[in-house]
Amino acid sequence: MTVHTHQNAMLKDGAFRGRTVAITGGGTGLGRSMAQTLLSLGAQVVICGRRAEVLDRTADELRQETGGEVLPQPCDVRNTDQVEALVAAAYDRFGAVHGLVNNAAGNFICPTERLSYRAFQTVVDIVQGGAVHCTLAFGKRWIAAGLPGAILNIVTTYASSGSGYVVPSAVAKAGVLALTRSLASEWGKYGIRSNAIAPGPFPTEGAWSRLMPDALRNLGDPTARIPLGRVGEHQELANLAAYLLSDYSGYINGACITIDGGESVHGAGQFNYLDAVSPEQWDELQAIMKPKKAEAP
Ligand code: HXC
Ligand code: NAP
Repeated sequence: MTVHTHQNAMLKDGAFRGRTVAITGGGTGLGRSMAQTLLSLGAQVVICGRRAEVLDRTADELRQETGGEVLPQPCDVRNTDQVEALVAAAYDRFGAVHGLVNNAAGNFICPTERLSYRAFQTVVDIVQGGAVHCTLAFGKRWIAAGLPGAILNIVTTYASSGSGYVVPSAVAKAGVLALTRSLASEWGKYGIRSNAIAPGPFPTEGAWSRLMPDALRNLGDPTARIPLGRVGEHQELANLAAYLLSDYSGYINGACITIDGGESVHGAGQFNYLDAVSPEQWDELQAIMKPKKAEAP
C-alpha cells in the first residue's frame, strides 16, 4: 500500500502529460525540485540558468530519475535576446509551452549603505528584470496564439513585509508580486493565470551559502522563529507549485501563497514573544493575574 505523505508528489499520475513547463533557475535548488516533481507527473520541462554545465548535469540526472524529457537551455534572464532564444528553443523542441515558473534569483546579505549601485542593480535585474522578460516573452506567444497559460512567480515572504539586509531582493520581489497581481487582472481575459509562492526557509546551496553563512550561525537557530520548528522540505514546495501550475487550480488567479511553517505570521504577532514563558511561569502569572471566581455563598 502506498503511504501518502508530503514527501510524495501530490497530484494524480499523469497530471501534466502533454504539458510543457519552463523553469528559470531550474538547474539547482528549488527550481530543480519543481522540475523533478513536474517530470514525475508527466510534464516535459525546460530548465534555464547561466551555467551550461550545471544545466546539462541536472538534465541528465532528472532524465534518469524520472524518465521524462528535459531541455537544458543556457540563458541569462537579464538578456532579452537570450530570453527570446529560450522561448524559441522551447517551442522548437516541444511545440508548445503551457507554464512558466519565474524562479531564477540573485541575492546576498549586506547592510544597504555598503551596497554599490551595481550590486543593487544586479539583484534587481536578475529577479525583477528576469521575471518581466520571461513573462513578456512567453505571455506574448500565448496571447498571439489565443492559448491559455499559467505563470508562477517564486517570491519571498519579505516581498510583502520588506526586510533589512536583503533590500535589493526585497525591492525586486515586491515588484514581482505586483507583476503577479497586475497580470492576474489584465491577462485573465486571455486565460493566463498568474500566481506566486512566498517560501520561508528551504535549504539550498545557493541560498544558504549567501544568506546563512557559518560565520553567522552563533546569532541563533533560524528555526526558533518558525512555529513548526523546522525548515521546509523541497517536496512540500514542489507539490504546491505543481498544483498552482495545473488545471486543478484553474480558478486560482492573483494569489500569493505563503509556505513558511508560520514564520511570517509569528514574526508579526505582537505577543508571540511569550513563547519564552515556561509553564511554571504561566502558573505564577495566572495566580496573580487571573480573576478569582467569587465563592458560592
Ligand atoms: C556586497 C556584493 C556581494 C555581497 C556581490 N556583490 N556579492 N556586494 N555583498 N555579498 C556586488 C559585486 O561587488 C558587484 O558590484 C555586484 O554585486 C555584481 O556582482 P557580480 O559578482 O559581478 O554579479 P554576478 O556574477 O551577476 O552574480 C550575481 C550575484 C550572485 C547575485 C552577485 O550571488 C549570484 O550569481 N547569485 C545567484 C544565485 C543566488 O543568489 N541564489 C540565492 C537565492 S535565495 P561592484 O560594484 O563591486 O561591481 C533568495 C531568497 C532567500 O533569493 C530567502 C531565504 C529565506
Ligand atoms: P538557487 O539554487 O541559488 O537558485 C537560483 C537559480 O537562479 C540558480 O539555478 C541560478 O543558476 C539561477 N540564476 C541566477 N541568476 C540568473 C540569471 N541571471 N539568469 C538565469 N538564471 C539565473 O537558490 P534557491 O534557494 O533554489 O532559490 C530559488 C528561488 O526560491 C528564488 O527565486 C529564491 O528567491 C526563492 N526563495 C528561496 C528560499 C530558500 O530558502 N531557498 C526562500 C525564499 C525564496 P545560474 O547560477 O547557473 O545562473
